[in-house]
Amino acid sequence: MQTLTVDLGDRSYPIYIGSDLLKTPLLAKHVSARQVMIVTNETVAPLYLELAKAQFSGCSVSTLVLPDGEQYKTLEYLERIFDALLENRHNRTTTLVALGGGVVGDMTGFAAACYQRGVSFIQIPTTLLSQVDSSVGGKTGVNHPLGKNMIGAFHQPVAVMADTAVLNTLPERELSAGLAEVIKYGLIYDSAFFDWLETEMPSLMDRDPAALAYAIHRACEIKAEVVAQDERESGIRALLNLGHTFGHAIETDQGYGKWLHGEAVGTGILMAADLSARLGWLNSADLERVRKVLLAARLPVAPPTDMSADRFVELMAVDKKVVDGTLRLILLKSIGDAVVTSDFPQETLYATLTAGQQLGQG
Ligand code: NAD
Ligand code: GLY
Repeated sequence: MQTLTVDLGDRSYPIYIGSDLLKTPLLAKHVSARQVMIVTNETVAPLYLELAKAQFSGCSVSTLVLPDGEQYKTLEYLERIFDALLENRHNRTTTLVALGGGVVGDMTGFAAACYQRGVSFIQIPTTLLSQVDSSVGGKTGVNHPLGKNMIGAFHQPVAVMADTAVLNTLPERELSAGLAEVIKYGLIYDSAFFDWLETEMPSLMDRDPAALAYAIHRACEIKAEVVAQDERESGIRALLNLGHTFGHAIETDQGYGKWLHGEAVGTGILMAADLSARLGWLNSADLERVRKVLLAARLPVAPPTDMSADRFVELMAVDKKVVDGTLRLILLKSIGDAVVTSDFPQETLYATLTAGQQLGQG
């Protein structure tokens, strides 16, 4: 097992990474009182709920099983968590445990941020995406029909446990979706990691345990470093949103759940790289490398055919990085070097937004 720390002073917390950690008693020490509620979904519950419960032997454990899907990441389904907490008489010393992917993690974390003005929570991420990104850093929330992740709070977990063995049951499409966020880290922060991803993508797609463990470890290390520097996203943390403004527009337009979050981010990363190349920042060889690594991860590389440039612009205007009506995007100066900028002509943005299927062809 490897342990990383997200260094936030007296709110610092460990990220445990390793195979079969669910079978290793690690989490009970992070529960302050004896009350626990595990929130999961109907897909993950039959696979891992009993193992997760065993982490908290000696505690009074309630469980809540939500329906599975991004379309349930709403205020309506958040209320089910509050209902269950109140019905089971959880008090303000309770600990919520998120067992699942980013949807369960974001909702459970937000419930923990709100319940009785804030209680503890633990993340047990079970998708690649949640192990490399959403379980770390304390962003929690739900979607609104008009915008992705528009209602939420920063609320850090007290521990994160990433058991790499659970990835064996993950559908291939979900594995690819997680790899989009892994590729993101190489592009914004670490060109050597990007080089490694180019070489090792076939091993990652084959779920080679050593390759996956290294990718998760390096991704969490980068995320922990960035979050420790800028917990509330007033600076460098915004770089973690490479591809997300385009991606969130796709998810909102298509209806939550049709495109997986990671798939929309994958296409969004290529759109950001394309715009960076049109601005003369990213050279054409590096743009091609970005396209190839996304394709090797079997991610979509062109936006939905029915989404116009005007529709993109309309939805991108709701992004959380918009300041005083000005859209800011994460763009690439080179591989491993990203910036947050509003310094791009509208017509260049439109050129990317209208490139459509050509984006995937190079
Ligand atoms: P998800 O939570 O919908 O999980 C994907 C699918 O895999 C679901 O059907 C789930 O039931 C299933 N699943 C989970 N673990 C499994 C396992 N071990 N075996 C088999 N099936 C399993 O999606 P996701 O990709 O994990 O997360 C996406 C969400 O995360 C989005 O809502 C996105 O906005 C959010 N997100 C949040 C942050 C953050 O910083 N908070 C960062 C990135 C993404
Ligand atoms: N996923 C982006 C962030 O955590 O900031």
